Amino acid sequence: MLLNVEDYRRAARKQLPRFVADYIDGAADDGLCLRRNLSDLAAITLTPRVLRDTSRVDTSIQVFGTRWTSPFGVAPTGLNGLVRPGGDALLAAAAAKAGVPFALSTASNMRLEEVRAAAAAGVQWMQLYVMHRGVAEHIVQRAKACGYQALVLTVDVPVSGNRELDVRNGFRLPFKPTPRLAWDLLTHPRWSLRMARSGAPSFANLTAHGNAADTASVQAALLTRAMDRTVVWDTLDWLRKSWPGPLLLKGLLHEDDARRALAQGVDGLIVSNHGGRQLDAAPSAISALPAVVAAVQGKIPIFMDSGVRRGSDVAKAIALGATAVFLGRPMLYGLAARGAAGAQAVLQALQDELVRAMVLMGASKISDLQSSLESTR
Ligand code: FNR
Repeated sequence: MLLNVEDYRRAARKQLPRFVADYIDGAADDGLCLRRNLSDLAAITLTPRVLRDTSRVDTSIQVFGTRWTSPFGVAPTGLNGLVRPGGDALLAAAAAKAGVPFALSTASNMRLEEVRAAAAAGVQWMQLYVMHRGVAEHIVQRAKACGYQALVLTVDVPVSGNRELDVRNGFRLPFKPTPRLAWDLLTHPRWSLRMARSGAPSFANLTAHGNAADTASVQAALLTRAMDRTVVWDTLDWLRKSWPGPLLLKGLLHEDDARRALAQGVDGLIVSNHGGRQLDAAPSAISALPAVVAAVQGKIPIFMDSGVRRGSDVAKAIALGATAVFLGRPMLYGLAARGAAGAQAVLQALQDELVRAMVLMGASKISDLQSSLESTR
């Protein structure tokens, strides 16, 4: 029975070849940061408050002038097409149905215009990796032209984290079949058949770029996740010129970085350690959240991701000052297990869990959680 995120994780691992399941579940080095994300969230308690009117519960919030049904959204993940053909559009559609935002990765397998068209009623944010400034600018222009609401610059991947599971599994792009990979594919015929029908996923946003030489070098950079490491604080001025809408930074954990972002005129922050996939020694995102919230003093919304698996985790992050949270792996588990319906079921499970937690905490609206800070310890 698929009731919660962990159920979907197990179902996903059965459906997926080992190398794909490990690519999703994998983390940097020894997986310490990944585990801290989960254990630090688990260690927080929420104290019930009683005899308050919770006959109606409203989980909606307003972000950048738009209403979200729930205080969570779908985090950007690359290679969604490896989980399911058309995975980007399936996740975007699931998010739109649930009334929550979807963030599309630069490393998506569908063109950003296609994904936007597939879920035009929904709110979509565009995530940006800068490997090459000309290409980044082109992506930003295209995202602006087709109605992405916000731009999310991911700042915690100047170099890719050390994902040893991928190395051990021989998972690298372009895909080179080894005997071990061939066995993996043979023993997961449904996944293999789907991929055989749809063709191997490519980095569709980047193949659309005009200059062929640039395209090849940028594809190569994305394959090895080789970012432009000359991107620094002042670079934000350059981005600002091409993107007038809300600009967020994703992947910071230090309060001084938060202050600097604020001074630079950024519109929102996503406190994140990339789901434990980058610096293994990094603190959990939930433990870094309070200092960032204190530094920003409510001037811009602070989001958080990394480790959210239950509705009560959403409530904990909000109680500690987050406006909303994002979900990475949980969405991929749903997508792998049951396609768009699975992704939607994961969102619904989190929503149901959140509502139940709110009722038990005597909270009938999200701002009640925000003021329940004293009851998290
Ligand atoms: C990611 N993440 C990510 N982030 C980003 O900004 N651009 C990207 O392309 C990707 N790609 C990606 C692939 C996969 C398979 C995973 C699991 C994650 C990080 C993601 O946005 C988010 O920060 C974490 O997934 C949050 O942690 P949880 O929810 O997975 O614990």
